[in-house]
Amino acid sequence: MVIDGHLIATRFFSSKNASSYDRIVKLTTFCKDSSWKKEMMRFIDGKNNLILDLACGTGILSSFINYKSTNSRIIGTDLTFEYLRRAKDRQNYMLLTNSLAEFLPYKDDSFDVIISSYLAKYTELSAMVREHWRVLRKGGIVIIHDFTYPNTRMMRILWHSYFQILNELGKVITSWRDVFSSLDKLIQLNPWVNDLVRELYLTGFRSISKKYYTYGTSAIVCAKK
Ligand SMILES: C[S@@+](CC[C@H](N)C(=O)[O-])C[C@H]1O[C@@H](n2cnc3c(N)ncnc32)[C@H](O)[C@@H]1O
Repeated sequence: MVIDGHLIATRFFSSKNASSYDRIVKLTTFCKDSSWKKEMMRFIDGKNNLILDLACGTGILSSFINYKSTNSRIIGTDLTFEYLRRAKDRQNYMLLTNSLAEFLPYKDDSFDVIISSYLAKYTELSAMVREHWRVLRKGGIVIIHDFTYPNTRMMRILWHSYFQILNELGKVITSWRDVFSSLDKLIQLNPWVNDLVRELYLTGFRSISKKYYTYGTSAIVCAKK
């Protein structure tokens, strides 16, 4: 399926909603965002890692990484300049670059860890995985998290009802209207977990794991080079 992720991402994220992003993600996930990010940290060890926070947005993940691994150095990269400005204010990053996940401005074999939250559904997965393989050191790991469409009937009913409420909320919080009105379709139409697992395997990654959280509404995929 062809989804123009770049176009959608540039429509969703801009200067008009960068300042409210942190509050909105907390509110709309009922604080689950923090639990999912803590789960991602389980895959990182405490050693001196060079970590790429891909699609870092306003930099929420960097605080979790710093807490888990105080010696690590973090580089952040994102498509949206206004979000990067917020990430800069956190002062957790060694370097921030305005670039695409599919074309990274980094040397081969640079990173110990590549981590991303809420990016997979916007990217061209095969190009992204190729870049992961190129810039990751041998033995390095990728940790990829995003929303998923639940697979039980009951959860689907609740999930769609929730997005109907979000859609109504978007009429009031207009800077988030585009996201609240079409995020559900994007998640529903994008089977990123299985596509990603296949791409990782075909590219050469091993020790691939996938795990679903919060009744199948989000997932984390992890793999080793
Ligand atoms: C929902 S935000 C997530 C931010 C952050 N990772 C977090 O967990 O809060 C999604 C981010 O992905 C970025 N993005 C979307 N597609 C991208 C791409 N192809 N390359 C780089 N960044 C991308 C957007 O600019 C946006 O900042």
